[in-house]
Amino acid sequence: MSQSIRVWDIVVRFGHWMLAALFLTAYFTEGEPAWLHTSAGYGVLIVIAFRILWGFIGPEHARFRNFVYPLADVRAYLQGLLARQPKHYLGHNPAGGLMILLLLAALTGTAGSGMAYFAAEKGRGPVAAAAALMRGEPLRDDGRYTKVGSKHFWHETHEILANAALALVLVHIAGVVVASALHRENLVRAMVTGRKQQP
Ligand code: HEM
Ligand code: HEM
Repeated sequence: MSQSIRVWDIVVRFGHWMLAALFLTAYFTEGEPAWLHTSAGYGVLIVIAFRILWGFIGPEHARFRNFVYPLADVRAYLQGLLARQPKHYLGHNPAGGLMILLLLAALTGTAGSGMAYFAAEKGRGPVAAAAALMRGEPLRDDGRYTKVGSKHFWHETHEILANAALALVLVHIAGVVVASALHRENLVRAMVTGRKQQP
């Protein structure tokens, strides 16, 4: 007899699929049209802000303390994976937990560098507005400010971080497929329904 247990709450599930959709939209629009690209990028930051808050106040399996493990546990889990006998966890496994932190950091850096680039190239966006406020200038209705920062530096940084984030996403998806196969459980379905089968 197997029993179905609720593991992922609605905030985790909805946030996950929003993050995936917004990231792919931002990545594949590559900056144009600007309204779609920047909206998707701001959306990524909003979802991440909620997710971080939820990591402290949400239910058990959503909390950081439930899935951030010492590196020794990550290594032991990966060794178990290579031996095809990984230890089973009801929530995120230690490698998955580390991947979540890396994804959140890479996505935050990508969107942050995007805002810095928007300010350096066009003098637009929240970074340009914040710089104007710091100079004591008022906010403008047309949203156009003096350009700040190095266009070249932020363009390179934004591009490198976006590609690093994509690489992490691909490893993340491969990890989900491998772990699903070895644990004989459909992790993707669990991220949709929120439920896992327990023997
Ligand atoms: C495209 C961009 C994607 C990003 C940025 C992303 C990010 C994340 C994050 C942050 C989590 C942690 C969930 C939480 O606790 O809040 C997660 C978990 C998960 N993701 Fe993704 N994801 C992406 C795509 C996908 C895709 C396409 C799939 C399906 C193949 C997928 C399947 C999963 C599963 C199954 C988990 C739970 C893993 C576990 O059971 O420990 N993700 N993902
Ligand atoms: C996670 C979210 C984001 C991803 C994955 C992403 C990804 C990308 C990629 C792949 C490019 C093309 C780089 C190139 O080869 O030139 C690009 C360009 C750009 N991004 Fe982002 N971006 C994100 C968020 C943002 C945000 C929040 C902003 C600003 C508010 C922004 C502003 C720009 C601008 C201005 C360009 C250059 C457009 C052009 O003139 O060609 N991005 N982004």
